[in-house]
Amino acid sequence: MRLFYRSIALVLCIALSTSTSLYATSGRTPLRVENGVVASASLTASEVGVEILKQGGNAVDAAIATAFALAVTWPSAGNIGGGGFMVYHGEDGHATSFDFREKAPLAATETMYLGLDGKVVNNSNHIGMLAIGVPGTVAGLYKAHEELGSLPWADLVAPAVALARDGIPISYALYSGFQQNQSAWEQHPSSAEVFLKADGSAYELGDLWVQPDLAKTLQLIQEQGRDGFYKGENAKLLADFMRANGGVITEEDLEQYEAVEREPVRGTYRGYEIISMAPPSSGGVTMIEMLNILEGYDLAAVGHNSAQYLHLLTEAMRRAYADRAEHLGDPDFNESMPLDELLDKEYAARVRATIDPDRASVSDETQFGNAYESDETTHFSVADKDGNMVSLTYTLEFGYGSRIVAEGGGYLLNNELGDFNAVPGVTDRSGQIGTPANLVAPQKRPLSSMSPTIVAQDGKPLMAVGSPGGRTIINTTLQLILNVIDHGMNIGEAVEAGRIHHQWLPDITTFEEGFFSPDTVNIYQGMGHEMRERGRQGSAMGVYHDRENGLFLGGADSRVGDSGAAGY
Ligand code: GLY
Repeated sequence: MRLFYRSIALVLCIALSTSTSLYATSGRTPLRVENGVVASASLTASEVGVEILKQGGNAVDAAIATAFALAVTWPSAGNIGGGGFMVYHGEDGHATSFDFREKAPLAATETMYLGLDGKVVNNSNHIGMLAIGVPGTVAGLYKAHEELGSLPWADLVAPAVALARDGIPISYALYSGFQQNQSAWEQHPSSAEVFLKADGSAYELGDLWVQPDLAKTLQLIQEQGRDGFYKGENAKLLADFMRANGGVITEEDLEQYEAVEREPVRGTYRGYEIISMAPPSSGGVTMIEMLNILEGYDLAAVGHNSAQYLHLLTEAMRRAYADRAEHLGDPDFNESMPLDELLDKEYAARVRATIDPDRASVSDETQFGNAYESDETTHFSVADKDGNMVSLTYTLEFGYGSRIVAEGGGYLLNNELGDFNAVPGVTDRSGQIGTPANLVAPQKRPLSSMSPTIVAQDGKPLMAVGSPGGRTIINTTLQLILNVIDHGMNIGEAVEAGRIHHQWLPDITTFEEGFFSPDTVNIYQGMGHEMRERGRQGSAMGVYHDRENGLFLGGADSRVGDSGAAGY
């Protein structure tokens, strides 16, 4: 099955180029290549990116092509109906980032999800038309291309058009994802048209999956750029679909949507430079705060995933996630976020001083909290032959987002507005956060945890990393960086290693099942921590520049079925 899947991709590759690609599906042994690498949740999409590199495209070109390809081959999170963030670091030292987070529509209000009793009605911030944010992906990719792209835009969208038009085989990951959402497809006729066969039956393993409406929308984007999505035929189609189904996104919302080029947030860790995403993602700030706290310990000596190590990580996580909940939101609506302090090493030292090296602290339940964030989303990383790197995370929020396809457009719409604090003023142990920084407002972006990150050394990119996983994203990316810098792992080992997650409240640490020995768990619990096991935490994708040997390494996490690193 996997071979069949790959053979389609290879036919596409051969049509585009005559030189040979190398690939590694996933695992602890990274792909090692000389000229550039892409690691993503879909090997087919990684190979599309590599073909662009071979055509002379740079890392941004390859990232754009990979992102559009993922919208076809990895529909649970790859998207044009969602949003995300791209971090770029050039070999010349130039670093920047692009924010294409979804926005609340103009008609949004702070209490739009609440009933007369002040409670969220029917989970409407997560499910249904009101949870859909104005999509940002196409605008973000287009802006990145305007600023940093080198090949023609149309060439970068072309492979995705072909994949949607000609079809891809249903892999096991697609098959099982479609199966799990069968009732959603049945509920929405526009979704059934895409995710079920014409006779209403489910797609089987190995079936050819053709997406003609998506191919048509991608072709509009290919020909008209940003406007192909935000104006004209697609804008009318989407606004009409909204009106007919109780949604509130209008043509005006689409017309007004702008992606933003932002200064990334920066920190250092043991002499390495950390370049990551600024608000409206909480990822960069929270991760750099944790790295600053952890820099005060000799983590290599403490030992990877020893009980003592996990204790120190937990205490750093607890404190940084509390700060995240209190302070962070969309910068356009929160002018006084204390970013300088949160990123400051002196502040981290004061926070570190509150950590007992032998005993767990207790999260203060009167402060802040946790709200549900889906584990879905997808991340990919790219390095080109010149050493430029892109780290890109984007999402529909839940797996397959709202599970609602824009009728006639062939693309899934997000349910990202669930990342807002839905109930103003109510923060409790059950999972609500009601802090003002992240309340709903028209044209506001919900706070994100996406953490696309580039680690540099002496001003040159060393590795690009990130992961899906809702609020766990920040901790997954943190542990990946520690795995390389403190524990000397290669990028394959680093993405595969077991991970933990703590997010202040609830005051519980989750351990990935199958990675931690009972005696480690016993010692950890003996320090006063509550823990429980969970399934996979994220799906990290990383690329690394081994300058000593003149090689690029790609690590694709085996936690997702179709993942793979490709290069040449
Ligand atoms: N929806 C996941 C995130 O933005 O972090």
